[in-house]
Amino acid sequence: MSLLDRLKAQIAQDGPIGVPEFFTRCLHDPRDGYYAMRPDLGAGGDFITAPLVSQMFGELIGLWAIETWTRMGRPSSFRLVEMGPGDGTLMSDLLRAGKLEPDFLAAAEVWLVEVSAPLKVRQAAKLGDAPRWVGRLDEVPVGAPMILVANELLDCLPARQFVRIKDGWAERVIGLGEDGALAFGLRGLGKSADTPIPDLLIQPEGSIVESSPAQAALASDIAHRLAADGGAALLIDYGRAAPEAGDTLQAIQGHQKVDPLKTAGLADLTVWADFPAVVAAARETGAKAGPIITQGEFLTALGIEARAQALATARPDRADQVARQLDRLIGEAQMGALFKVACLTAPDLSPPLFEDAT
Ligand SMILES: C[S@@+](CC[C@H](N)C(=O)[O-])C[C@H]1O[C@@H](n2cnc3c(N)ncnc32)[C@H](O)[C@@H]1O
Repeated sequence: MSLLDRLKAQIAQDGPIGVPEFFTRCLHDPRDGYYAMRPDLGAGGDFITAPLVSQMFGELIGLWAIETWTRMGRPSSFRLVEMGPGDGTLMSDLLRAGKLEPDFLAAAEVWLVEVSAPLKVRQAAKLGDAPRWVGRLDEVPVGAPMILVANELLDCLPARQFVRIKDGWAERVIGLGEDGALAFGLRGLGKSADTPIPDLLIQPEGSIVESSPAQAALASDIAHRLAADGGAALLIDYGRAAPEAGDTLQAIQGHQKVDPLKTAGLADLTVWADFPAVVAAARETGAKAGPIITQGEFLTALGIEARAQALATARPDRADQVARQLDRLIGEAQMGALFKVACLTAPDLSPPLFEDAT
């Protein structure tokens, strides 16, 4: 039985489910979830990410990591952690840039946090057996400083959705329509303490606001470690830099938007990263965090234009391709403005470009 049919049968028996449960089943159902069974990153797959657009992305993050390690006092051993490493391209490019500072590479103990068995195979093919793999951040041993990188991981963590109704708010749920297909519905909030984000309470009827306890919990976990052991975490994703209403649940298959309720387990499912909530959760847990900047600002400040020029000079036959990649990564109409970058950092550290973290 397909995941879609199993979900329908479950809902018919037990009633509607919340968006987070649906989202998690679609991505991680052990028999049929997208990441469990058929993650397909890349130009010929379902979606493309920044490291796959160009090697420049991972290389510049490598330079950022070297400078962060230097500001940490050049520890002789630290955990270099990537969460959600995809096909391993970002880490591969980061480590290549790391060769510029051999002491950095020698000190780095590489840990990959990955839940997807098929992607672990792709990561091992690219990175060899030097990294250690775990399924959760808390399996990376504590007791040493950490530099953590996560690109497009927050968007894989589910959000609850709340809908403004005439006399208050209701939670968006997934039930069955009259035709027996999955359909969105509403569940009253009753007397529960659940409420939408306070900043967004005044909204026109029909508005949707999202709240992701899972994203906030991850930020707290990371911040807790940084406060105890030192270091910094770089989170990059498409998302909001300020509280904002809107339904951002999106299913992508073969680079096309598809109906999430018809493609359970067959498509990648995402919601926007909620950077204000992530930053707030990190600060509450004792780390410094923010400011939230755009990917365009981040990569430009790290020197992506000079790197693109160097690549184009070395390979004039590829100059047009490099120019397109550069535009895709930093162009306002492309990834440059939609994607945001935030840094969570230990209280005593000022990582490059995030000196104003509070
Ligand atoms: C959109 S891909 C991004 C891949 C890579 N970072 C890149 O930029 O190409 C999401 C990654 O996060 C992983 N992932 C999804 N949910 C996860 C979770 N709950 N914990 C750890 N990794 C997760 C996926 O398996 C995949 O490696």
